[in-house]
Amino acid sequence: MAKIVLITGISSGFGKAISELLASKEYIVYGFSRKQPEDLTGAIKVIQADVTDVTSIGKGVATLLEREGRIDILINNAGMGISGSIEDSSREDIHLQMSTNFMGYVNMIQAVLPAMRQQGGATIVNISSIGGLMGLPYQGFYAASKFAVEGMSESLRMELAPFKIKVIVIQPGDFHTSFTTNRKPIQATLIDSPYQAQFQKTLSLIEKDEQGGLKPEYLARKLACILKKKNPCHSYIIATLEQKMAVVLKRILPGSMFSSILSSHYGIK
Ligand SMILES: NC(=O)c1ccc[n+]([C@@H]2O[C@H](COP(=O)([O-])OP(=O)(O)OC[C@H]3O[C@@H](n4cnc5c(N)ncnc54)[C@H](OP(=O)(O)O)[C@@H]3O)[C@@H](O)[C@H]2O)c1
Repeated sequence: MAKIVLITGISSGFGKAISELLASKEYIVYGFSRKQPEDLTGAIKVIQADVTDVTSIGKGVATLLEREGRIDILINNAGMGISGSIEDSSREDIHLQMSTNFMGYVNMIQAVLPAMRQQGGATIVNISSIGGLMGLPYQGFYAASKFAVEGMSESLRMELAPFKIKVIVIQPGDFHTSFTTNRKPIQATLIDSPYQAQFQKTLSLIEKDEQGGLKPEYLARKLACILKKKNPCHSYIIATLEQKMAVVLKRILPGSMFSSILSSHYGIK
């Protein structure tokens, strides 16, 4: 029987690549999107929903369940990044970051769990980031949102094991997607701020890493293999060797040594 997949954020990047790949295989794919994606290929069933809006999520999940009767896999992917100094970030900026990247995942999980528990098993995939494993300069609230996803996923995994619901976390490194152009820089840091010059230097390095990053189709292929596993690991880092090494160094080096390496990578003296 074809598995029913629900994925968020299908208009570009990972969401587009994953939904197109899974729809070309033995999956029935539903995508939640704020707008009708223009150039999506394959038989993806698009439902309009904003992950920050519980009413639209509720309606979307109800529509899917009416049609299919079950949800085998939820892929929480929709997200964005704000970037700027922590000091300059407004309450609105921080709210946007956390309500999309963290509460958006929570909203989706809470909406699908009653059906997943009742059907006696499922898989939840949370797209986190290497930024959920280490703080990154000028991406403090982005990192906070992904650290939150990491912590919540660890707890959720234990709570859902008795219901045969698996929780898998994916930690991508830098990928070339629309994430870079969709990033929202903190205006106060851009315009008149003691951080301005350093921020612009660091932001251009962050963007260079992303633009030169791996293709989202690579992550989609890796995830398709992970979804076939009977006993998947709790988490997977999908990144270049250098970025995987950074995660290892973070674990083994003294904090002061690791943060000087990272600071130097981002041009901070
Ligand atoms: N690219 C990277 O280097 C990288 C690395 C690590 C982790 N990630 C994570 O990967 C995930 C996907 O990012 P991406 O790189 O594929 O970026 P992307 O190309 O910008 O795609 C982001 C997707 O999220 C959707 N989205 C944003 N806010 C939404 C909301 N409130 N409700 C519904 N959909 C919303 C966007 O839809 P709209 O068209 O409606 O804006 C878009 O489809 C994110 O969680 C991101 O944090 C990315």
